[in-house]
Amino acid sequence: MLAGLRRLEYRGYDSAGIAVVDGGAVDFRKKAGKIANLAADLEANPLPVSSTAIGHTRWATHGPPTDANSHPHVVKRAAVVHNGIIENFAVLRAGLEKEGEQFLSETDSEVAAHLLERELSSGSNLVQAMRDVVSQLEGAFTLVAVDAQDPDRIVAARRNSPLVVGVGDGEYFLASDVAAFIEHTRDAIELGQDQVVELTPEGVHVTGFDGSPAKTRDFHIDWDLAAAEKQGYDWFMRKEIFEQPKAVSDTLLGRLNERGELMLDELHISPEVLRRVNKIVIVACGTAFYAGLVAKYAIEHWTRIPCEVELASEFRYRDPIIDPMTLVVTISQSGETADTLMAIRHAREQQAKVIAICNTNGATIPRESDAVIYTHAGPEIGVASTKGFTTQVVACYLLGLYLAQVRGMKYGDEIGAILTELDAMPAHMQWVLDNRQPVLDLAEELKDAPSVLFLGRHVGYPVALEGALKLKELAYIHAEGFAAGELKHGPIALVSKGLPMFVVVPPPGRDQLRDKVISNIAEVRARGARTIVLAEAGDDDARANADTFLELPKVSTLLQPLVSTVPLQIFACELATLLGHDVDQPRNLAKSVTVE
Ligand code: M6R
Repeated sequence: MLAGLRRLEYRGYDSAGIAVVDGGAVDFRKKAGKIANLAADLEANPLPVSSTAIGHTRWATHGPPTDANSHPHVVKRAAVVHNGIIENFAVLRAGLEKEGEQFLSETDSEVAAHLLERELSSGSNLVQAMRDVVSQLEGAFTLVAVDAQDPDRIVAARRNSPLVVGVGDGEYFLASDVAAFIEHTRDAIELGQDQVVELTPEGVHVTGFDGSPAKTRDFHIDWDLAAAEKQGYDWFMRKEIFEQPKAVSDTLLGRLNERGELMLDELHISPEVLRRVNKIVIVACGTAFYAGLVAKYAIEHWTRIPCEVELASEFRYRDPIIDPMTLVVTISQSGETADTLMAIRHAREQQAKVIAICNTNGATIPRESDAVIYTHAGPEIGVASTKGFTTQVVACYLLGLYLAQVRGMKYGDEIGAILTELDAMPAHMQWVLDNRQPVLDLAEELKDAPSVLFLGRHVGYPVALEGALKLKELAYIHAEGFAAGELKHGPIALVSKGLPMFVVVPPPGRDQLRDKVISNIAEVRARGARTIVLAEAGDDDARANADTFLELPKVSTLLQPLVSTVPLQIFACELATLLGHDVDQPRNLAKSVTVE
């Protein structure tokens, strides 16, 4: 159980707990802080041996991370763990307190434990009790529960929050993510929305909230335990940065048919429908949103279809104009981001077709979309997204090229030439990784900088935003990304003597664009900024304006983000390490944001 929780710790690391069923009672331990605190407590006060257990790692929503607010919540014979937010918990809690129930925590989750215990005490079995409880709840939840008087059964329910089943040899698992049980089995069952699942020694039984027979999908996990381990690296993030050449190469693999045409096998939307599309809206959050911003430049250029990029958390609240001819492309590494999921539901209600770009088989977002293109990055465990970003850019590019192909906007040889360039990217990324020493030196030099700015233009602009996000989330220092041309409209006032400014310079192929960026570097340098210039090797004009010059391989403008992002990832990882921060689990964050 502890090993499983450790593999899920990246999803939330405020507190953790375990409950087991033993001899007609529930016994449990729970502790604020990282799982190491729980492990130490278990060492000192071991739990009894049991074959039925539930556990939880928390990312606090209601109530700070304390022992009492940790899960499981145990009320007499019932123990419950919960992910998500129970939106009507205040009303439910007030009602229960009025009837004499004593609450021990400030969480929304504890109401579920009280409600479940009441149902069990009034004679319901665990499955029926769970159905009755979920019928009273509003919001997002995965609930997993045990009953002290029914020791061979675990029951769970899910709505808008992840849950998968692992099918082992004589053993079954439930988890928010397959990483929890990958050590024991690679066979899994994807559950649908509003389903109740029951695990007993006899097997797995899934029904709808109303008891009706349920549809599920079996799948095999295409990575193994080794992929979910650090393999000698100090951080998952560092390992994942170094995995990028392979992740990009795997995402490109097997995309051509025998006639040399681009094929996207998972894309179950007919070419006729794709030919009718008159607008593309890309919806995502955080780093995935920046991947979308990069993709817009390529997709519009290749397909001539207008493409908007929108933050998922804003999308449905502004009543966006979408109709059956709109193609909505959602990007999500985890496939569970609540904001993105809600955007998908909104888009589908308006009859738009939705394609998900996702890294996680069995996740909710691909299941609720019309089609999916999987990135084949393997598990991304560091909270900061790295190989997630580069493979998302590649998958978006494949989609853009496919649209150009089916709509006749590009000839086969033109598409082939871009695919050949894409195939060369893993080697270019490897070159950047092998030549990282100047970036490591820079991190050492800048570790006391209170603020760092990032500039870029065209596809370099989202790269600048991504560089700033990485630094904020890992090093906790002020960092901002700007469109280089926008600087003179206000932000240049921030520039003072010695301020470190990273500038991403486009390749010389786009002469005007590059020249303008070089002028922007000169402007900030004239005002005292310390310029760190990322530009193609041999770009002497860029070098002449650089206090530090970081060489990039020679690639075309649209593909440059695949190499220019890598030094920025390394810089943030290194700087945060030097500052003594937990790079894989930065403060206040969680990997998979399953609340809106
Ligand atoms: O799993 P998703 O791709 O949907 O996650 C989206 C964002 O939460 C994620 O990219 C976040 O911004 C990362 N921590 C950035 O490194």
